[in-house]
Amino acid sequence: MLAKLFSGSVGKKLGMALTGLALYMFLAGHLAGNMLLFKGDGGAQYNAYSEFLLNHPLIVPVEIGLILVLILHVWLAISVSLDNRRARPRGYQVERASGGRNWASATMLYSGLATFTFLIIHLINFKYGDRGGGTLYDLVMKSFKTPLYAGGYVLAMVLLGFHLWHSFQSAFQTLGIQLSPRQRSASILVCLVLAGGFGVIPLWIFLFT
Ligand code: HEM
Repeated sequence: MLAKLFSGSVGKKLGMALTGLALYMFLAGHLAGNMLLFKGDGGAQYNAYSEFLLNHPLIVPVEIGLILVLILHVWLAISVSLDNRRARPRGYQVERASGGRNWASATMLYSGLATFTFLIIHLINFKYGDRGGGTLYDLVMKSFKTPLYAGGYVLAMVLLGFHLWHSFQSAFQTLGIQLSPRQRSASILVCLVLAGGFGVIPLWIFLFT
């Protein structure tokens, strides 16, 4: 049934917009939780927050929902890109002359795939990583003391920022909501806060702790 709902081109774009906006909400919550790293209490509140989430009765259904939303989002993104390519075999040359639209959509696929790759590495390291007898806070602090890791995260957050920036506005367009200039500026600010907020964490840990 889900496959039928998201099979047409309008349904696919609608699905991408809705799953994308749901992922935005996850990111906002995840960033808020990670801000506890700045508390300067040796990770007491950060670890307590993580324990609270892990022991919450809704954690398993929420995690399953998150995985399904993510898989659907990636699947629809690849499918829409393939459809576009099939419909316009020479579309790149044609659209390049007509403005930034094709550049933006091409960036979306690559920045999206880069974010997905980042996510796999991120989960292997933080969710399933070896804490070596320490706490989650210790693992995060230790990881971002490595130049390659901290630098890689900052780069990934720049790409995430591009992805969020383009997607936020196109998601509202798909939903038929016309953003006013002020709302467009607010949407750019939201993306900057999200990607910038995540990017500041490794930088701060690497440089100042
Ligand atoms: C500096 C930035 C970030 C830090 C320090 C961070 C930290 C963490 C940590 C420590 C965990 C494991 C939590 C636990 O096991 O209790 C986690 C899980 C996760 N992170 Fe991040 N994260 C960051 C950025 C991101 C970004 C940008 C994304 C998405 C693009 C993301 C997506 C996830 C997801 C999906 C999970 C699994 C959540 C779950 O299973 O409940 N994180 N993160």
